[in-house]
Amino acid sequence: MKLTAAQRKQFAEEGYLIFPELFSPEEVKVLQDEAGRVSKIDAACIFREGESGQAKTMFRLHESDGPTASRAYRAAARSERVLGVAQQVLGDDALYLHHCKVNMKAAIEGTAWPWHQDFGSWHLDGIARPDMATVAVLLNDATEFSGCLHLLPGSHLEGRRNPYWDDKSAYKLWAVGPTEMRDMIARYPDPVRVDGKAGTAAIFHCNLLHASGHNLSAEDRWQAYFCFNTVKNRPADVENPRPDYVRSRNWEPMVLEADNRILADSTVPA
Ligand code: SIN
Ligand code: MN
Repeated sequence: MKLTAAQRKQFAEEGYLIFPELFSPEEVKVLQDEAGRVSKIDAACIFREGESGQAKTMFRLHESDGPTASRAYRAAARSERVLGVAQQVLGDDALYLHHCKVNMKAAIEGTAWPWHQDFGSWHLDGIARPDMATVAVLLNDATEFSGCLHLLPGSHLEGRRNPYWDDKSAYKLWAVGPTEMRDMIARYPDPVRVDGKAGTAAIFHCNLLHASGHNLSAEDRWQAYFCFNTVKNRPADVENPRPDYVRSRNWEPMVLEADNRILADSTVPA
């Protein structure tokens, strides 16, 4: 899947690209079923919430080992449509995943992600340069009502803002504060929704401001995120590094695999 010159220009200027229905309904079903299977596993890299203990965020589905390993996510991460697109926008073939996660924003109860830049926290992981991008894949239809992602076009060009630790949101992350966000939103084009059918994907720059709202709908909103870094930009040592499932120590360059493997691998017995 070769990006056009116009797409590369859009990524450089606006910090994102959206690909409607990039994954087929059959592929989405495999990725959904796998997320459902993994969500029942008891592992430190699955964050749960509430009395129900429902999985909220699950990490590290893309490796061959570990409790959350999934052939389908391993294949998706190495496909032309994920790794191949990331290689093109980052201008480097030697990439690895800083992490991979599935966010399961539950119907009615799933809450907002405040405005933030991913590089707000990844820089604190010891990563020097913002040579990173995330591929997001919608595993359900997403709408504003169900808490789809919003991106602030072009905001990556101002570089990393100084984040604050937001421990009031359900997800607890390094976020950009309300005064700064009011100023940024006033100066930029309207935020863009990453909405549409399941299987739609987006790639966005690690300094692009993004956020999502509460899921007011009766359907869960599940999304997969593949967060790439260049191998040469791998993190320096930091004190108290985060666990390997969020700050990977597997810095081997990932190898592209045939693009049909999400489906092909799902028929191979485990
Ligand atoms: C994120 O920004 O990492 C996730 C946001 C979302 O899933 O809505
Ligand atoms: Mn984010």
